[in-house]
Amino acid sequence: MSSKPTATPAPLSGRMIVLGVTGSIAAFKAVDVTSRLVQAGATVEVVMTEAATKFIGPLTFRGITGREPYVDLWATASPHAEPHVVLGRSADLYLIVPASASTMARIAHGLADDFVSLTALAMRGPVLIAPAMDALMWSNAATRANVDLLRERGIEFLGPVEGRLASGEVGAGRLMEPAAIVDHVKARIGREHGDLAGARIAVTAGGTREPADPVRFVGNRSTGKMGHALAEAARDRGADVVLITSASLAAPGATEVVQVETAHEMLAALETHVADCDALVMAAAVADYRPSESLERKQKRGGLEHWTLDLERNPDLIASIEREGLIKVAFAAETEDVLRNAAHKLVAKGAHLMVANDVSAKDAGFAVDTNRVVILDRNGGCDELPLLSKYDCSHRILDRLAALLQDRAPL
Ligand SMILES: Cc1cc2nc3c(=O)[nH]c(=O)nc-3n(C[C@H](O)[C@H](O)[C@H](O)COP(=O)(O)O)c2cc1C
Repeated sequence: MSSKPTATPAPLSGRMIVLGVTGSIAAFKAVDVTSRLVQAGATVEVVMTEAATKFIGPLTFRGITGREPYVDLWATASPHAEPHVVLGRSADLYLIVPASASTMARIAHGLADDFVSLTALAMRGPVLIAPAMDALMWSNAATRANVDLLRERGIEFLGPVEGRLASGEVGAGRLMEPAAIVDHVKARIGREHGDLAGARIAVTAGGTREPADPVRFVGNRSTGKMGHALAEAARDRGADVVLITSASLAAPGATEVVQVETAHEMLAALETHVADCDALVMAAAVADYRPSESLERKQKRGGLEHWTLDLERNPDLIASIEREGLIKVAFAAETEDVLRNAAHKLVAKGAHLMVANDVSAKDAGFAVDTNRVVILDRNGGCDELPLLSKYDCSHRILDRLAALLQDRAPL
């Protein structure tokens, strides 16, 4: 059976996000956050404090969102008599970025004398705050107490992170990077609305590297793009994701990342993390063989005319991870007899789904952004997907996984 291509909607499409901007030197980064939210499909309404407008103009946000930011409480231009109430009732999420110490204090104490704090008070949905300030302001007892109070009330904090501050000093108080902030927004929207909310999913990615000496390894051509796309897509659908990866790619934000190198390290990480997972998606290209011996010192070029490596078999990771109720999705990277080999592996590895791909194709498999896969199941089902981006392909695989998880038990 072959499936028609269906485009995956952008992760925030159909979602309305209110973005609060306050008077911090990092206010210019809210422009990047806004642009990323819009590109992810969200409708963004911007509310600003008067102080924020000293750092960045409302016109910039209007240009990106196509909507007039709300700044002046007493302006009468809005079609709504009480815009804060309309925003509070209709927003899927309220994100304040950057949040100044002063605005956090006002929200903590229920003050509502500007658009940002007033909207916080009227908000029905989740509130996420990304603070930015000098390290001394962040560590000040008043700020600490306000942050504790806001956390107790269920407000989610994104950062701040350690790094270079406007003063030139290095410390805690730097705004979390805009891309990471948006990843957390996607994760939160997923947890509120996604079909994988409540599920914990382990995803493996990348080709393992099996050392021959301190500088050389036996590896393969997997880059980890498929596994990282799967982790991102699962996060966007609300799953709590642990990504066990040997790839050198940047990992998707708002996932738990465990970096490994060898098949044995990956197995150890799986044994630790799969214990509380509902599903395991094994997209990593685990080396079937490793050098029997890894030399302690670099093998010198002059020392040997021939260097023969003795290889021994690695454990079969997906077959050796067994747990009652765990749904297993395996991958088969093949260069010939793709379907026959994949069907055999589905049974041999005790997997629920087998995702097979022909890695000899130029536009699918290793190192490219697209993939063409066939999904085999235990009932003999065989779903041939067209060429898709790895992110879209991930969603089609996760559609099948979500259905299996739902059949298994309510999440
Ligand atoms: C140049 C400059 C930079 C500032 N940067 C920050 C900052 O990064 N974080 C912060 O909490 N306050 C910062 N402040 C102080 C706030 O702008 C000030 O407390 C203001 O009243 C905050 O108003 P708001 O919370 O209504 O936006 C800065 C002030 C100035 C003059």
